[in-house]
Amino acid sequence: MSILVTGGTGYIGSHTVVELLNENKEVIIIDNLCNSSKDVLEKIEKITGKKCKFYEADIRDEKALEKIFNENKIESVIHFAGLKGVGESVEIPLEYYDNNVYGTIKLLEAMKKFGCKKIVFSSSATVYGDPGTPKYVEEMGRGKASSPYGATKAVIEEMLENLYASDKEWTISILRYFNPIGAHESGLIGENPNGIPNNLMPYIQKVAAGELKELSVFGNDYDTKDGTGVRDYIHVVDLAIGHVKALEKLTKPGVYIHNLGTGCGYSVLDIVNTFERVNNVKVNYKIAPRRPGDLAMYYADPTKAKKELGWEAKRGIEEMCRDSWNFVKNK
Ligand code: NAD
Ligand code: WQD
Repeated sequence: MSILVTGGTGYIGSHTVVELLNENKEVIIIDNLCNSSKDVLEKIEKITGKKCKFYEADIRDEKALEKIFNENKIESVIHFAGLKGVGESVEIPLEYYDNNVYGTIKLLEAMKKFGCKKIVFSSSATVYGDPGTPKYVEEMGRGKASSPYGATKAVIEEMLENLYASDKEWTISILRYFNPIGAHESGLIGENPNGIPNNLMPYIQKVAAGELKELSVFGNDYDTKDGTGVRDYIHVVDLAIGHVKALEKLTKPGVYIHNLGTGCGYSVLDIVNTFERVNNVKVNYKIAPRRPGDLAMYYADPTKAKKELGWEAKRGIEEMCRDSWNFVKNK
């Protein structure tokens, strides 16, 4: 029996595939390579000494999905495939709904057709909206989405709940990630966005590497310890292990929602300073105006994941910064 990983050559997907292979699971990847490259497959093999089957295809392609389900015995799906640019989703919302929402519908239809009713879904802390308190607990429910991207995640969560309500055989895990950074300690896989990055860590990496002049720190007048925005950064390997644990615990039908975060908040300047210190590199920055739509501070309450999945993040901010830089140096 195999696990189908959609978006498995992407940033979080590739790290999860490594952890699944380390647990001797059989893994099949479907990815259309719109934001990743086939080289990742060799890297995964180098790290684990194991191979996984790869289909270059789009999850919206019904025929391709049928072929995959016909050719393999798929017991469960971990669903990462999707577009993830918050800013980009404002520019091209229809593409986001098409890829993320319609893509998930096609995937769920194929799963249903082939009697595979177990799925782990990549959701995001963004579904909380702006609850007015920095510590996000699963029970708070979904708030108003602040971007079309966030709306697609909230719609998919709701769709999965509706699906279970209609058919109690489905076993569904919704994982809400906070801010994944870092890379595999081998330095072979990591996050490698095209063009000018939007997210903090990829931007810092490019400044440290001399590819970009300086980081703009978006606001230093927030009500936080040093005035800069605070987030719950989580090492991508811890996040990947969270998926393995969630899958292991998916033994009874239902919808299970868990935060995957560390529970610690770090400011932009904490990240810049730690990155400089542990890697002995300079990260030039300037203070810039606040970025529209940003919240001052939020972090996970990770209690439920610890209690129910037996999972907690182990890697600290220093490892996150070290491994992020190690990946860049290794490229
Ligand atoms: P990523 O872009 O690195 O990985 C996504 C992968 O999906 C890519 O390899 C891409 O080629 C593939 N893909 C996209 N659309 C596809 C389609 N229609 N058919 C087949 N493959 C397709 O992104 P990531 O950071 O690894 O994120 C994975 C998932 O986690 C996404 O759903 C994202 O929204 C979610 N998420 C990410 C973050 C984050 O900060 N990275 C935070 C919360 C949630
Ligand atoms: C982090 C902090 C910025 C860039 C996004 C999505 C969220 C989730 C994770 C997918 C903030 C500051 C950033 C820069 C800066 N993704 N910053 N200069 O916005 O917390 O979360 O990624 O689900 O949904 O919204 O992440 O890395 O963009 O920002 O000062 O050049 O760094 O203001 O305080 P964010 P980020």
